[in-house]
Amino acid sequence: MKTKHSPVIVVKIGGVALGSNDTTIEDIVYLQQQGKKLVVVHGGGKLITEWLKLHGIATRFVGGQRVTDKDSLAVATAVMAGLVNKEIVAGISQLGGRAIGISGADSALVQCAVEDEALGYVGRVGEVRTELLDTLLQAGYVPVIAPLGIYAFQRPEGAPRLLNINGDIFAGEIAAAIGAERLVFLTDVPGICDRTGKLLPRLSAAEAEELVRSGVADGGMIPKIRGCIRVMNTASSTCIIDGRRPHALRQQIEGHGGGTTIYKG
Ligand SMILES: Nc1ncnc2c1ncn2[C@@H]1O[C@H](COP(=O)(O)OP(=O)(O)OP(=O)(O)O)[C@@H](O)[C@H]1O
Ligand SMILES: [Mg+2]
Repeated sequence: MKTKHSPVIVVKIGGVALGSNDTTIEDIVYLQQQGKKLVVVHGGGKLITEWLKLHGIATRFVGGQRVTDKDSLAVATAVMAGLVNKEIVAGISQLGGRAIGISGADSALVQCAVEDEALGYVGRVGEVRTELLDTLLQAGYVPVIAPLGIYAFQRPEGAPRLLNINGDIFAGEIAAAIGAERLVFLTDVPGICDRTGKLLPRLSAAEAEELVRSGVADGGMIPKIRGCIRVMNTASSTCIIDGRRPHALRQQIEGHGGGTTIYKG
């Protein structure tokens, strides 16, 4: 379902954007005050890894996606829906912005099936119920969303109620569901780089896919590319930018951003 309100910008914040010197929160508040409608999706990347270590739980990744057993799901839920989500909301609130922290479980926002048994309790997004987001956006809030989902159908016996979803994929699905105008990924590199490490400022969807196929783009870059391609037909702009650069988000929205733009083609 498409939104009835003004264009929405979906921003995925990576682990790096939660450092103490980060300006992303400032940018979010600034853009909100300029009348922009924003939805923020975050991950928990490095913090989840730290907390798993703290609890003696080993982490494994397959194709950039975390393998989630019961224990790591509990940690991922606690860190993302708790610590990270509330840190972001507190940051926005303290600067005078208006934000509400939710997860994909709230109001049955994101309904899933199990992605792949090999990945454990990881959700593949089916239906996204956008009513709550529409309501929050219309009321002037920035929804800040932790990438968790619930089962669309009955969950397997003994399984936890929540499913973990890759934050980048989740951001793409949310952006597609609300018909977002822009999807922006903030990360810890200048953008998508070629084999020699040189930034690639513009890529067609086909070129980006080729980088994945050839292995030049791997790990955490793969779901970002997938997320961009997911909204190619509905969004007017999808990009991956360097969240370490001061005011990277604001500059991007104001039209002088760097990073990599992926366009339809
Ligand atoms: N071709 C490429 N160009 C740039 N970075 C790449 C490329 N291929 C893989 N990467 C990796 O992708 C990483 C970004 O994804 P990563 O999942 O680590 O961060 P994030 O999603 O921004 O944050 P987090 O997952 O911690 O929330 C880079 O740090 C880099 O190591
Ligand atoms: Mg990542």
